[in-house]
Amino acid sequence: MIAPHGGTLVNRLLAGAERETLLKKAAGLPSITLNSRECSDLEMIAVGAMSPLQGFMNQADYEGVVENMRLASGTLWPLPVVLANKDGEEFAAGVEVALKGEDGAVLGVMKVESCWAPDKRKELEKCFLGDDQHPAWGYLQSTGEKYIGGQIQVANLPVHGKHNDYRMTPAQTRAAFAEKGWKTIAVFQTRNPIHRAHEYLTKVALEQTDGLLVHPLVGDTKSDDIPSDTRMECYHALLNKYYPLDRTMLAVYPQAMRYGGPREAVLHAVCRQNYGCTHIIVGRDHAGVGSYYGTFDAQEIFDGLDEGDLEINTLRFEHSFYCKLTGGMATTKSSPAGPEDKIFLSGTKVREMLASGQRPPAEFTRPEVADILIASYAHKVEA
Ligand code: ADX
Ligand code: MG
Repeated sequence: MIAPHGGTLVNRLLAGAERETLLKKAAGLPSITLNSRECSDLEMIAVGAMSPLQGFMNQADYEGVVENMRLASGTLWPLPVVLANKDGEEFAAGVEVALKGEDGAVLGVMKVESCWAPDKRKELEKCFLGDDQHPAWGYLQSTGEKYIGGQIQVANLPVHGKHNDYRMTPAQTRAAFAEKGWKTIAVFQTRNPIHRAHEYLTKVALEQTDGLLVHPLVGDTKSDDIPSDTRMECYHALLNKYYPLDRTMLAVYPQAMRYGGPREAVLHAVCRQNYGCTHIIVGRDHAGVGSYYGTFDAQEIFDGLDEGDLEINTLRFEHSFYCKLTGGMATTKSSPAGPEDKIFLSGTKVREMLASGQRPPAEFTRPEVADILIASYAHKVEA
């Protein structure tokens, strides 16, 4: 089985008497309330999805990550995983603070290592190649002046109202892969319904690997991305009819989307290595937004990593499409198609069609998926 990033699968989730003791201690501590992204990160840290992170980043780790994608230890880490110190209160190193969810419930305790005022403009430019219009800037501006970091111990994972049957920790996915006897596992990161182009990537991957993990991101996304419950309906419909279920698994990935393009592709890869996957699909403009990144930057960034930085491999794809000339899904690598041979619909066009109750062509999206999307648009209009 592939090693976790950094060598050891982290577990910061306490159980039994240790958990009780932590909860008692937390009751007497000053507290910080986590926003929704921070709750997602806490969950991922606690269950080892972000191994080797044992908490929210301290200043040295944060600065190394922003500057050159490395933790202070030298280990590869592409994007900050930080906790905002919302009201700016000073906490000295060594002090313990309780971490609470937005509903006030105690999640855990952090032992403070550093509390500092980050250069958020630099974070935006180095990590996201962003400007004021990039979604990262809106987020960075919403969280106050300071970060606070340190190791965490978690008593309670955030409670979720949905997808609970599809939440698997890295220990659980690893156990499932072992039980199935899968040695090579391709993972598909997605924040969209799976259209035919996406399906093609996963099918090509299935030709090469023992199994496929469809691993949709269900943490926060932009308001114009399709909500995760609609997407999950689509994934079910698609997988049940069009995939070999003995070679396919569906589980949710709790991360909040950063829209960090190349650096986020590396984050997706690192975390999926922790889940036990050996190959990650990276297609066109992975984790992109607007026109901040080149179409294949999220593939090329992997070429700049050092030997030994990552064990998971990338499965890279050109822009895929339905090709009328060859009568199947293709990319420019496999078909001599000209522009007139490609069935291509822009995101805007697809949204317009679905909103007006029209199914996009079957070459673009499976009818079962189209119908779910049409129903969800109709529902939105009624509401
Ligand atoms: S995201 O993480 O990249 O934001 P999204 O759902 O949009 O998720 O895409 C999932 C994966 O499919 C990414 O690796 C992306 O690069 C790839 N992808 C999406 N559409 C295409 C396409 N038409 N051709 C090739 N790759 C694609
Ligand atoms: Mg995309």
